[in-house]
Amino acid sequence: MATEIQIDERAREFVGSERPMLIGGDWVNSASGKTFEVFNPATGEVLANVAEGDSEDIDRAVKTARAAFEGGPWAKMSPSERGRIVHRIGDLILEHGDELAALETLDNGKPFAIARAADVPLAADLFHYMAGFATKLDGRTIAPTVPYMPDAEWHAYTLREPIGVVGQIIPWNFPLLMAAWKLGPALTTGCTIVLKPAEQTPLSALRLAELILEAGVPEGVLNVVTGFGETAGAALAAHDDVNKVAFTGSTEVGKEIVKAAAGNLKKLTLELGGKSPNVVYSDADMEDAIPGAANAIFFNHGQCCAAGSRLFVEHEHYDEVLEGVSKHADSIKVGSGLDPDTDMGPLVSQEQQDRVTGFLDQGKSDGAKAVTGGSAVDGPGYFVQPTVLSDTSADMSVEAEEIFGPVVTVKPFKDTDELIGAGNGTAYGLAAGVWTKDISKAHRTAKALRAGTVWVNCYNVFDASLPFGGYKESGWGREMGSEVLECYTETKSVCVQI
Ligand code: NAI
Ligand code: MG
Repeated sequence: MATEIQIDERAREFVGSERPMLIGGDWVNSASGKTFEVFNPATGEVLANVAEGDSEDIDRAVKTARAAFEGGPWAKMSPSERGRIVHRIGDLILEHGDELAALETLDNGKPFAIARAADVPLAADLFHYMAGFATKLDGRTIAPTVPYMPDAEWHAYTLREPIGVVGQIIPWNFPLLMAAWKLGPALTTGCTIVLKPAEQTPLSALRLAELILEAGVPEGVLNVVTGFGETAGAALAAHDDVNKVAFTGSTEVGKEIVKAAAGNLKKLTLELGGKSPNVVYSDADMEDAIPGAANAIFFNHGQCCAAGSRLFVEHEHYDEVLEGVSKHADSIKVGSGLDPDTDMGPLVSQEQQDRVTGFLDQGKSDGAKAVTGGSAVDGPGYFVQPTVLSDTSADMSVEAEEIFGPVVTVKPFKDTDELIGAGNGTAYGLAAGVWTKDISKAHRTAKALRAGTVWVNCYNVFDASLPFGGYKESGWGREMGSEVLECYTETKSVCVQI
């Protein structure tokens, strides 16, 4: 191993201590006094003890968020001041980039260089991008005709108002970035928040919350309750005084959240699983398409909702692409995220390692062939080999279900109709990739694939300006872009008879 990356001093201090949660402006223990352990997935060692919030803490946090929404400085603040604060959060993320990236590597396992080059600047950019909208949440004027009142005169307009108290439940695959995707639009629109980070990776959200207070967000506007999904998460999803829940995670839990939200019919946005098709046509530039297809699945160790986990290759080039992607997989250096030579770190937890190897064992017994990889890596830490599977069919779990690990299935196709049928042959519809030099084929395929995002001659390109979300069982609503603002505001029609 090359010399380990020096962990930022502030990050080291942050993980070395007990971590309380944020309610109002106070860092507090859970009402029960319980804590839970957070692990370094590269070693299996305990990193920190974090307050274990449950329904009582959620209730306390929601009451605080409600009070901050109804009165106090946040409710009265001008949009330009709110925008300036949101922008400052982005600045502080950049200023603390080494520290936040180190927390991501320690807590999630991803290579430091990637956290530093991708997660941190993307999180900052989200706040910078959103900040500008604070002053542009305009309504419009309307000219009603009202045919049954022919003599009346009207002045009508719409107002866009913050939706209220929002609950936000986020996953562990991009802990900082998912917090940013959620918090950026909520703060910009003037909502107040109870955030529940994933129990596997709560640390960067806690540090981000400190920076958000430092940026000038008033006390009570952001509350962070750490704890488990079944207790804290479920209580937040069911809470009667929460106006909206934004959730990112498994489709299974997404469906639970829909049921929990029925009590007060809170609004929901859901960003759920995927089993995204990535298509390589014969006329693609293979020098781009082969590494592109490998990165589509292996980026973030396959722990991406949008991962290009089903690779379809036009039959003439099937062998070439299968071999090329497998070679790429073999060349990936798996190891600690603190080793500068590492390309791929561990999966986030023992549970995820077991889940992914369970899929691999099932696939092999169903007749799938591991061209490369196919197992866990021995030793401490939750590592899995980058894996390329051939000889799969649509009824095998490895091809039908979201694995959320470094595992791709590769299949040949004969023509575009067959490809579209197979590509859309899933309950999911989050993302897709198309590799071709034929511009008509690119657009035709992009249109035919039922997915919220289609990447052409690229993959996993995320940007604060690009709306992201799912068709079908991949979710409800959109994050990022201007579209996300619709999901955090209500539209009020004001109709005045003159
Ligand atoms: P999960 O869906 O259980 O967890 C995601 C978040 O939801 C966490 O904050 C968790 O505490 C919370 N949660 C869990 N149960 C809840 C409940 N009943 N009510 C409210 N909140 C709840 O995902 P998990 O168990 O960590 O991973 C399992 C699988 O889910 C993965 O293998 C992957 O397939 C999928 N997943 C998808 C993600 C995505 O980005 N679409 C992210 C994480 C997981
Ligand atoms: Mg779960």
